[in-house]
Amino acid sequence: MKDFTGKVAVITGAAHGFGREIARAHKMRLFLADIEAPALTTVTQELQEQGAEVVMQQTDVTDEQAVTALIDAVMQHYGQIDLVVNSAGIALGNFVWDLPTRDWEWILHADFLSQVYIMKRVIPLMLKQQTPADIINVASVGGLTCGPTLSAYAAAKAASIAMTESVAYDLQAIKADIHLHLFCPAFYQTDLGQSEKRRPAMYTELTDPYYRSPAYKAALKQSQAFLDQGASLETVGPVIFKGLAENTFMITTHQKLAPFIEDRTHRHLTGQQPSLALFNQYLPLMEDELPSDLLD
Ligand SMILES: NC(=O)c1ccc[n+]([C@@H]2O[C@H](COP(=O)([O-])OP(=O)(O)OC[C@H]3O[C@@H](n4cnc5c(N)ncnc54)[C@H](O)[C@@H]3O)[C@@H](O)[C@H]2O)c1
Repeated sequence: MKDFTGKVAVITGAAHGFGREIARAHKMRLFLADIEAPALTTVTQELQEQGAEVVMQQTDVTDEQAVTALIDAVMQHYGQIDLVVNSAGIALGNFVWDLPTRDWEWILHADFLSQVYIMKRVIPLMLKQQTPADIINVASVGGLTCGPTLSAYAAAKAASIAMTESVAYDLQAIKADIHLHLFCPAFYQTDLGQSEKRRPAMYTELTDPYYRSPAYKAALKQSQAFLDQGASLETVGPVIFKGLAENTFMITTHQKLAPFIEDRTHRHLTGQQPSLALFNQYLPLMEDELPSDLLD
């Protein structure tokens, strides 16, 4: 059993949602990062008041230089990194023929390339440390199912999954004591519906009529409606630390979706087209509460 008590954890996206929940869940020495400085300060102060050792740095993870500066700051402060949780991310959706290219670039940087930037910087440091280390990349069940209006989101998540799995092979090949994990949840009640507030300047172009279009407004509304139906966050910490203790590669939450994921692989192998009817049949299960027996 791995014990993370007192270990140094770097958590991105720590101001809200999964990142904040994971930071709260275990007594670790924390280095928290997020693009939203005020909310990050609140979480940092809350944890410090509870006696935790916590340092924060405002970081836009879509900016590779900012990520490098973050990891440099962690090493300067703690001199060690035992766990990285890449939870910073955003959500957006729409038809590929409506979605501006800058939104594709934003989501691919925020949800996928940010994880690459961190791993490129952190893995050499972890190899040098010669102590066991873990990295959790937060992806989504959306990367395993795909779905209507999800082309950009599912692409970013599928890229995260494929990259993480491939790097896991590389680490095995060099016998590294670094363990990779993917967190692939379905819907949870987080602040993900507020992603627009975290749009970096370089992906902002308010003169584009898309951001006033009914298609854009409908997508925001739909995304919030799904999140509102999601599971509540309190099970996330126990699920993550159970996954780490058991060295689970893919940490999932909504077990009832497994037949849909199996069906997708079967469809691929037998050349069938995706079935919208089947997707709609499974959609309510993405909102289902996490069964408590998963934590036993
Ligand atoms: N909530 C869900 O239902 C759900 C389901 C599957 C996957 N996910 C994934 O989980 C991850 C975390 O999302 P969440 O649901 O906790 O949402 P959230 O909005 O509550 O948390 C995401 C955090 O990332 C931060 N962030 C956004 N862009 C950033 C940037 N450029 N640099 C640094 N920080 C940035 C936000 O400020 C926020 O604090 C995301 O990748 C999301 O796609 C969420």
